[in-house]
Amino acid sequence: MLHNRMTKNLTSTDEKPLKEKTSEDFAKYFQTTYQPPSLKDARRRRRKDIDIHYDFDIRTDMQQVGVGKRFYIRTYGCQMNEHDTEVMAGIFEGMGYEATTDVNDADVILLNTCAIRENAENKVFGEIGHLKPLKLEKPDLLIGVCGCMSQEESVVNRILQKHPFIDMIFGTHNIHRLPDILREAIFGKEMVIEVWSKEGDIIENLPKVRKGQIKAWVNIMYGCDKFCTYCIVPYTRGKERSRRPEDIIEEVRHLARNGYKEVTLLGQNVNAYGKDFEDSSYGLGDLMEELSKIDIPRFRFMTSHPRDFDDRLIDVLAKGGNLMEHIHLPVQSGSSEILKIMGRKYSREHYMTLVAKMEERIPNVTFTTDIIVGFPNETEEQFEETLSIVREVEYDAAYTYIYSPREGTPAAKMEDNVPMEVKRERLQRLNQLVNELSLKKNKVFEGQVVDVLVEGESKKNPDVLSGYTRKSKLVNFRGPKSLVGKIVPVYITGAKTWTLDGDLVTESKR
Ligand code: SAH
Ligand code: SF4
Ligand code: F3S
Repeated sequence: MLHNRMTKNLTSTDEKPLKEKTSEDFAKYFQTTYQPPSLKDARRRRRKDIDIHYDFDIRTDMQQVGVGKRFYIRTYGCQMNEHDTEVMAGIFEGMGYEATTDVNDADVILLNTCAIRENAENKVFGEIGHLKPLKLEKPDLLIGVCGCMSQEESVVNRILQKHPFIDMIFGTHNIHRLPDILREAIFGKEMVIEVWSKEGDIIENLPKVRKGQIKAWVNIMYGCDKFCTYCIVPYTRGKERSRRPEDIIEEVRHLARNGYKEVTLLGQNVNAYGKDFEDSSYGLGDLMEELSKIDIPRFRFMTSHPRDFDDRLIDVLAKGGNLMEHIHLPVQSGSSEILKIMGRKYSREHYMTLVAKMEERIPNVTFTTDIIVGFPNETEEQFEETLSIVREVEYDAAYTYIYSPREGTPAAKMEDNVPMEVKRERLQRLNQLVNELSLKKNKVFEGQVVDVLVEGESKKNPDVLSGYTRKSKLVNFRGPKSLVGKIVPVYITGAKTWTLDGDLVTESKR
């Protein structure tokens, strides 16, 4: 048994089980309940023990409240949010609600929001505006805003002032409180705001309704302590806290028993997994090694931080098997000067050494990345260093973004002499290079046979199946629907920038 800073239950305040706790108990504990969030408080990192709860339950008076009613959740942002939506869906079903894909049909609508860039936020405010007529038409409809935007003071204030028809705002640390929040929204008249600025505990036994039966997300840790100077995530998701390996292993075993074929381990900085265990050096490498013994054909993890990627993990990944050789390794910039101002805590040289080490030890490894262009005062030369690192690593794909100032982060206070049209032009040049490389890397597969985990019919043509390779490449090919959920060999006939086309290799052709 691992001993870390975590103890079971909320012992540091009192001995009541979770379900008997009232808002006041939590208010006492966190001092922030029913207050708008504060980015300043969110910045603090406390040494306080993180408590793990195993006693989540839906209060009895809420267990039937949704019978005959429907919920709709719209999810923005990253996999973390996608997975939170699966948890909230589980809680809704525990209250008797059914899911709907039509907003007009819903009795409760939640917007699970993302705060990473300004345009992500604008989309949500646009959607809130669109929902107003529906609310006027159906006054009993409940609309809630949750996810990362709810953790921002400015967002909560804007909703209070401009969109008072919203019924609930709750934060990323308050998801397990959904039944109580909903109860207050149903029976109370005021807007319910429950956003804890300080990180919550780990709640282990939350119900989940997973989106599919082939691939599953599994959180291994929450939060981020990296505080890259441009990034809002450490404020919206709280401090780094790792789940205990036993709990993760149990969840993955359960997925294996239920026939899942792929598990992606989730965290904002998965390489920091275990750093908060006080008297143990158990890390991501150890976890991956243990997990690889479970009967799940494919394991992935995201997102990696280059600074914390250790040799132990590389050695474990080198064994291949059910550990995929595709690493998403955000670089952000190719300029060591910019990386320094970004607070990334590695240089271009460190990054390249890590890439070289992995290329040497992990057979056939491929990389994808995230890049920000137009960071404050980025010079043409510094941008060209980004182009050159992309050429050097030869990424299979890259997610590229124009820097977006986020209120409350250090970078937002920096003066910036790069005009927007220069940033746009840099993004275009970068994307052109990234696409050229993606096509080049895809072309390599022409004439090869790859293993494809079949996920379903292609969106454009029901006769065509699609799925992903070990290296996360999307492959389209013709085949019977009975192959969905199976890993099959496909002969690649053609490569495009984003996808591969192929023919199923049947027994007779092998
Ligand atoms: N934890 C991950 C990434 C989380 S956010 C990591 O450290 O890599 C996903 C991506 O969004 C980041 O990698 C970064 O490229 C981008 N991003 C984050 N903040 C941004 C901002 N303020 N403006 C533009 N892009 C940003
Ligand atoms: Fe944001 Fe940096 Fe943390 Fe990633 S590692 S979530 S970019 S602060
Ligand atoms: Fe967005 Fe929050 Fe994820 S800000 S990217 S949804 S952690």
